[in-house]
Amino acid sequence: MKPGRKRKSPYASDRKHQQRPWLSGLAAQAERIVEVGVFTGRTTGYLARHTTATIWGVDHWRGPAAYPGIGLIVNAKSERRFRRRLKPWIENGRVVVVKMESTAAADYLLADHGPVMDLVFIDAAHDYESVRNDIAAWRQCVRPGGILCGHDINWPGVGKAVGEAFPDAGRGGGYCWWTEIGP
Ligand SMILES: C[S@@+](CC[C@H](N)C(=O)[O-])C[C@H]1O[C@@H](n2cnc3c(N)ncnc32)[C@H](O)[C@@H]1O
Repeated sequence: MKPGRKRKSPYASDRKHQQRPWLSGLAAQAERIVEVGVFTGRTTGYLARHTTATIWGVDHWRGPAAYPGIGLIVNAKSERRFRRRLKPWIENGRVVVVKMESTAAADYLLADHGPVMDLVFIDAAHDYESVRNDIAAWRQCVRPGGILCGHDINWPGVGKAVGEAFPDAGRGGGYCWWTEIGP
């Protein structure tokens, strides 16, 4: 490696963010989508522009220490950027902000709506235990035949949790994984 050049983290996400076009293709027919972990809303904004679905955006914006190597800082500024970016869709009700801890939000949405989500995209904390808990909580919110998917299967904790829950999970753009929820 040349001096002065930054080493790419082995855990870095695909820099071209190929998860966004892949996800919106998957979401083309969706009416109800949940994004778990929205950060500043770049993916939420992409989905809002490229689908007609209602999107629930879940985040606590507390900044977990679950991102070794990539230095993601999550704070009140991230929340403000999310709300500013998504303002037109929040105002017209197409994006619903759920400022809660992930698994509590899953319980809340399940109690409120039942298992009706066409697509749930998990991209919150990336350690094994969190991803395992997110999968267990959010799979219940997906309708039969709907899709549960997530980002960063190249992270060891994500790969382990997904592999245990769904050994046959498919792969999508930008290091995504996906599975169809059965009846
Ligand atoms: C990798 S970022 C999300 C990036 C976003 N999906 C995108 O594509 O732009 C992870 C986000 O998940 C949130 N998060 C992490 N653990 C969470 C939890 N247990 N409950 C709610 N949000 C969580 C963090 O606050 C952070 O904003």
